[in-house]
Amino acid sequence: MKTLVFTNQKGGVGKSALCCLMAHHLVRLGLRVLVLDVDHQGNTTRALVKSGKPLQSATTADQVFTDPAATVEAEKFVLVPSDYDGLLELLDYPVDERNILATNMRRFLRASAADKFDVCLVDTGPNPDIRVLSALVSADFVLAPIDLGQEAIDGIGKLINAPEVGIATVMGSGLNPSLKFLGMLPTRVKAVALHKENMRTIFSSSQYRSMLLTLVDDPKSGDDFAMVADRTVIQQCQASGQFIGEIRDQTAARETWREVKPVLDRITHLMGVA
Ligand SMILES: Nc1ncnc2c1ncn2[C@@H]1O[C@H](COP(=O)(O)OP(=O)(O)O)[C@@H](O)[C@H]1O
Ligand SMILES: [Mg+2]
Repeated sequence: MKTLVFTNQKGGVGKSALCCLMAHHLVRLGLRVLVLDVDHQGNTTRALVKSGKPLQSATTADQVFTDPAATVEAEKFVLVPSDYDGLLELLDYPVDERNILATNMRRFLRASAADKFDVCLVDTGPNPDIRVLSALVSADFVLAPIDLGQEAIDGIGKLINAPEVGIATVMGSGLNPSLKFLGMLPTRVKAVALHKENMRTIFSSSQYRSMLLTLVDDPKSGDDFAMVADRTVIQQCQASGQFIGEIRDQTAARETWREVKPVLDRITHLMGVA
């Protein structure tokens, strides 16, 4: 089983929408998929429950952190749902006792989930806390949806270098030597001046450019970099629980799926799961 974490301490950048899209896509490819929603806001949980597709596990996400014997059902598509109160309580753990939460999560993934699933997707919340850190030290891959709006460039600095949960911080900490950064994925991208300007700024920094998710191994032009445009139909699907890849009778949905599918396929390829 390969574990992919979606992270960014900015909210509203499209982590949950992408996590849900990815989950449906991988299931349709025939992979066994576990989704773990460790954000107490539960947006991924809500959308996936509405879809009616996954089995909702009897284990909730907070138990993955607190119960060293937490298990998960073996099904093709399982959601370990967010539990609002339980996940918030984790934040009250004394700092010197927090390690056990990460240890439990790691054990859950390796001992209970590993043989039952091909992929585990972990959706995280926007707070730089132990839930995000636990996910990052337990995962194989991390992907960071980013936005191009106000303070986008500042946001990237935090995403990479924040204490504890910054991607470079985790990678440099030695806590998870096998973690691979798939890249930053500009999401909800609009054809407006601010977004274009911020994209230019990212491209003009060789450090930031090298951190972007690419559609090919050796990117030559701007088209070789991945992004997800701002599309009403993505928002609608996230609200209704529908999977955009299964909507045949709407032109906007078909066109948007044509844009999004190559990004999801690339992520799948980079994880080496299909
Ligand atoms: N590519 C997109 N186009 C349009 N709306 C989007 C897109 N991605 C996400 N959204 C919508 O934007 C809002 C925030 O997205 P969400 O995935 O919940 O962000 P996060 O999990 O990072 O907080 C949601 O209403 C979601 O449906
Ligand atoms: Mg979210």
